[in-house]
Formats: sequence, C-alpha cells, structure tokens
Amino acid sequence: MKKHLVLLGAQWGDEGKGKIVDLLSADFEAVVRYQGGSNAGHTVVVNGEKFILHLLPTGILHPHTFGIVAQGMVVDLDLLVEEIESLENRGIKVWDRILISDRAHLVMPYHKILDSLFERRGKIGTTLRGIGPSYMFKYGRRGIRVSDLEDPDRSYRLIKDNLGFVQDLCEKVYCENYSLNLEEVFEKTMQNYKKIKDRTTDTTRWLLDFKGRVLFEGAQGTMLDVDMGTYPYVTSSNASALGLSSGTGLPPKYFSHANFWAVSKAYTTRVGEGPFPTELKDELGEKLRERGKEYGATTGRPRRCGWLDLVALRHAVEVNALDGIIITKLDVLDFFEEVKASVAYQYEGKVIEHFPASLSLLERAKPIYKSFKGWQKSTKGAKSLGELPEEALGYLEFIQNYLQVPIVMLSTGPARDEFFWFEKLAYQERI
Ligand code: IMP
Repeated sequence: MKKHLVLLGAQWGDEGKGKIVDLLSADFEAVVRYQGGSNAGHTVVVNGEKFILHLLPTGILHPHTFGIVAQGMVVDLDLLVEEIESLENRGIKVWDRILISDRAHLVMPYHKILDSLFERRGKIGTTLRGIGPSYMFKYGRRGIRVSDLEDPDRSYRLIKDNLGFVQDLCEKVYCENYSLNLEEVFEKTMQNYKKIKDRTTDTTRWLLDFKGRVLFEGAQGTMLDVDMGTYPYVTSSNASALGLSSGTGLPPKYFSHANFWAVSKAYTTRVGEGPFPTELKDELGEKLRERGKEYGATTGRPRRCGWLDLVALRHAVEVNALDGIIITKLDVLDFFEEVKASVAYQYEGKVIEHFPASLSLLERAKPIYKSFKGWQKSTKGAKSLGELPEEALGYLEFIQNYLQVPIVMLSTGPARDEFFWFEKLAYQERI
C-alpha cells in the first residue's frame, strides 16, 4: 500500500473532485493544495449542508486534518481570510489547522483588473479571479510572496512599484482608466496578513518532517494544464501531476510513495473558451447540462457539455501515469436512449489516436464515436456493481479497457456516502 495519495482532475475541471477528496481525506492526516487559487470551486455536501471551497484544501472539513496551502498556489488574502472565517462561523475550526506557505504568491487587486482587461482583448473565458496575471507577475519576477509581508517597508515598496507598473500598462498601452489607491491596497493587505501571520511557514520543510499520510489535491484538470492542456485555453498553472513537485517544493522522488488517481465524469464538460471535440451543441447537450446541473461553482456560468472524450482521458492517464480512475455522475446518463464516447478523432482523412497539441487540428477534429445502448434505469445511489444495469456496466468496462487503468470507485450522487468501491475489477490496493 502506498502512503500518500494524489487526486487530480482528468478532464477540464469540475469532475467532482471536491466530494471525492472530502470522503477520502478521512484516511489522511494532511491535505495539500499546490496550484491554482480561488478559480477552483470544490463543492461538498456534508449532512445535507453544502460547502464550496475555493482556496482551502477540501479535506480541511475533516476536523483531524492539517490543511496546507502550498507554494505553487496564488493566494487572494481577502478571500482566504473570508473562507476561513466563514467555516469558523459554521462551527468548523480552521485557524489552528491551516498552514500557508511563505513562498506562495499573492493575488492582488490589480491582478483582477488585468484579468478583466486581458479578457476584453482576447477571450479565454477565465474566472476573472486574477489567476493568470498573478502567475505572469510570478514568472516575470515582480510577484509578491507571503514572506515579503513580514517586512512592511518592503511590501509597501513592492506594491507601489506594481501599482505604477499596472497603471502604465492600463493607461499607456491599453488606454483604459485605472484607479486603485496605494494606501488602501497596502493597508488591506497588511490587515489580512496580520490575521494569517501565525499560520504562515515553510510548508515544504513541514511536509518533509511530517510522518503522517498526505493527500495532494489537484485543482482544475489535466486538460487545463498550462503545458499539457489545450493551450492557450488553459489555466496558468500545472494542473496535472506535473505541478506537484514545483507546487509543493517536494522532490519528485517523494511522490514514488504516492498513488495517483484522477476523477472523470461519465461525460465531458468545460467552461470558458477553447476546443472541445465531443461538445454537443444541440438538445442532447442541453439535456446533459440540465440533468447534470452543469453550472460553474465559482462563476455560475453554464458549462459546455458533450460525450465522454476517451482520447482526452487517455492523455490524462498517460501524462499523470494514473493508477486508478474515479467516475462521477454516471446517473446523469441514466435516461438517454443512446450514450457515446469518442475513441479517436478524424482529421483530413487521418485517424488521430493521441491527443494533439495543435489547436487548429483540435478545432477541426471530428470525433469517432463508439455507441452504447442506453440503460434507461436509475443508477443513483447504487451501492455495488450488482445494482448497475448491464448496459451501464458495459459502458464502464469499455472505459476501463480503453484506458488500461482500473476504475477504482463510482460516485453515485453528491452526498459523502453516495459511492462504492469497484471490488471485482482489478484494483486491490485500495486505501
Ligand atoms: P483562470 O484559471 O481563471 O485563468 O481561467 C482559465 C480557464 O480555466 C478558463 O477556461 C476557466 O473557465 C478555466 N477554469 C479555471 N478554474 C476552473 C475550475 O476550477 N473548473 C473548471 N474550469 C476552470
């Protein structure tokens, strides 16, 4: 049995990771988020109460866990403090269990201004949470890190310099009005820092010393990874397993003690712009959206919906070297007469079997589908393979055989206890 677990999104985000992390984290002592920021929206239902977490690791809802906001994240301090306080107000103690990396970069108000400005000039369909601009500043070496805030003079200088830079960019390059007050931005940042100061530390050191089991929680999904996804229609971090080492500061070898699992819906969705070969722009897509309640947890935007894209999913299996897949929302397909999954793409008379880098190709690729007879019976709340209709089992077996990776679990509804393990299929090494 491997000690740690990495849980990733296998698609374009919104696979239902929140619920899965929540239920699995009962067996782990620390839960880590290591990339992205408040663009994520992880929804969990506990005892009928709904929680949506944006910045905190989802496993923090279990009172025995430590939650780590690791160095690869970009942190909006306003939202972080608000999220912690809101959980505290709902009776979940967080302050004494959360640790924030002193190397994490901040999302500042001017990053959100730039996010909107860039979106007006060339639409990616971002969450407008300032994520891309914050990573731009990080890699452009003008970011502000949590550790900078220990020194108020230094923080003031950095904020002043960045505000001037953004003002020039907005007014001189983009000819847009700009208004942010230096004193206000500085004061608010320092007020927030005061609240989190005692909880900031070198989280890499902490994890290296920690003897317990750790669950690493990916945000977004592999197809939104800045390197392996549908660039430039991606998020600005490595949302696949590639981001683990840089995002935590832990050496790659550390993860040889981890199982790698990823979550996939039984169909596909994405929000924002970008190629989506199996998208259904007709009433079937509409039906998936309504039945699956496919509206963004962070922005409320309707999600684009389509059939399962096995070419993209196999890409995720390979990039992440997955040991197991968890399937969610099979029940959304319950009353379809026919269900489909793409097994390759067709482009200019050629059959494409591996997910390509080229956007031009992806935009024009036509999926080659395998068709399945619909089961037209409810699978919601099923507790074992024996309760699934034969056609649904056939669909899952096909997915497993195509991917050459075992399905380890099926989630059968939004609540913590609506799932079951796949005992009969190959996977033995369950946690
Ligand atoms: P950003 O991460 O806000 O810059 O947005 C870049 C792209 O990633 C957009 O298409 C967003 O819709 C998408 N995205 C970001 N976070 C999530 C998420 O948590 N779920 C699904 N899509 C996301």
